[in-house]
Amino acid sequence: MAIRNILQIGDPTLRKKSFEVTDFGPKTHELLDDMKQTLIKADGCGLAAPQVGVLRRIFIVWVDDNYFECINPKIISEKGSQRGEEGCLSVKGKHGIVTRPNKVIVSAQDRFGKPFTVKASGLMARAFCHENDHLDGIIYVDKVEELQEN
Ligand code: CO
Repeated sequence: MAIRNILQIGDPTLRKKSFEVTDFGPKTHELLDDMKQTLIKADGCGLAAPQVGVLRRIFIVWVDDNYFECINPKIISEKGSQRGEEGCLSVKGKHGIVTRPNKVIVSAQDRFGKPFTVKASGLMARAFCHENDHLDGIIYVDKVEELQEN
């Protein structure tokens, strides 16, 4: 396992659309393991593959004790709305208020290609939406009310 470099805003890779994953073998597992280690070191609550320079539809989220690896994710349901603080490991030293759905249902595949569905609310729902946006080249600063320095 290795810690990967997290790209910072301004890097064109962060603005590209990621590709569907068809490989559920060792290379993808290594990427996921590296992303997990990278997320732990950075003390964040989510990381998407394009943030480490890999344009594949993969993200991980870790909120409280809940950890998910989502491959080819789709947000299949959104309900309500929440306003709250958000930051991003690719936008160091800044934060801001973003409005997101309060509840989401996400369908995805795990590292072995097995489909699963997860319901989330509050901070976890926010994390899913934020990370899913990265797969389409969207960064929270596109949606923030006002970007502030930490
Ligand atoms: Co982010």
